Amino acid sequence: MRVLGIETSCDETGIALYDSKAGLLANRVYSQAPIHSEFGGVIPELASRDHVKKILPLISLVLRDASLEKTDLNAISYTRGPGLAGALMVGAGVASSLAFALKIPALGIHHMEGHLLAPMLENNPPKFPFITLLVSGGHTQLVYAEAIGKYRIIGESRDDAAGEAFDKIAQLMGLGYPGGAEISRMAQSGNVTRFNFPRPMTDRPGFDFSFSGLKTHTKNLVLDNSESGGLPQPGTIADICAGLQEAIVDTLVVKSLRALESEGLSKLVIAGGVASNARLREKLNKATLDIGASVFYARPEFCTDNGAMIAYAGCQRLLAGESSSLSIAVKPRWPISQLSLLGA
Ligand code: KG4
Ligand code: ZN
Repeated sequence: MRVLGIETSCDETGIALYDSKAGLLANRVYSQAPIHSEFGGVIPELASRDHVKKILPLISLVLRDASLEKTDLNAISYTRGPGLAGALMVGAGVASSLAFALKIPALGIHHMEGHLLAPMLENNPPKFPFITLLVSGGHTQLVYAEAIGKYRIIGESRDDAAGEAFDKIAQLMGLGYPGGAEISRMAQSGNVTRFNFPRPMTDRPGFDFSFSGLKTHTKNLVLDNSESGGLPQPGTIADICAGLQEAIVDTLVVKSLRALESEGLSKLVIAGGVASNARLREKLNKATLDIGASVFYARPEFCTDNGAMIAYAGCQRLLAGESSSLSIAVKPRWPISQLSLLGA
């Protein structure tokens, strides 16, 4: 089965082609980051309008990359939610119209299920059951994944998501948007021990997270170290970035290992934009090795938003006989625990 995957939940237009036998045939992502960066965050209306402009040309490019025509498609999957309503409607509208015209099925996919399954696109994919740390701009969750569609949330952030914390803190330090990659880049030249950062909620039992205190802590550090009303020196910003990244990573590592231990599992999957963070990968590689467990993740471009994960997830569910009605009904809020078991 050959599936076109469409991702438009936020500020990336992601289009990919996945074939159940041959694997990934083509994948392109167009990032709107330059459009939103001057505002320090995503402006929903600008996001929708730009998806409208980019989606059809990107579909044509992806088909051309794979030397295929629209009539070679067997099905279309698209992100139905969670995400920005207007942005989701662009993808859902194009997917449903194309499916109608081509007389093929369309299927709406849960964005976070797409992230969770992205490591399946790599060699040596994880086998169920496993614990997934979903860390993106909108979510920080620990999920017990028993099978495709059978997910139990065992912990989540009570306030900001990890990626959101990176983005907001980057903005107050005058770094670019999105902030995670920028903080990670600055952290490379920073001194990780110069400033003390808390590891929120790690000294309490449970699997929930809270990153808003870390945000306030960093804001105060930035103010205390600012030069006559401006920002701190670049060297100080690098030290703040290093300490902050280490604190967020340590917090994620502690809770992930706790979840593995408590559920009696030895496989951890990390997914979502923050899973592309090199320090998080490095620390989890070591920490899981130390306890005889293993960690799985996709290449960085499949951790941030992309169409390949939506095409892959769609293909699995379409092969199991699922399809959606062609009416456009997106789900901007949609807990992953509400999904149904593959084919059920
Ligand atoms: O999954 P994603 O592309 O979009 C959402 O579904 O939200 O995740 C985007 C988030 C942003 O908050 C971004 O700052 C963060 O992932 N991110 C990173 C890195 N690359 C992207 N955070 C930390 N380190 C990175 N290298
Ligand atoms: Zn995402």
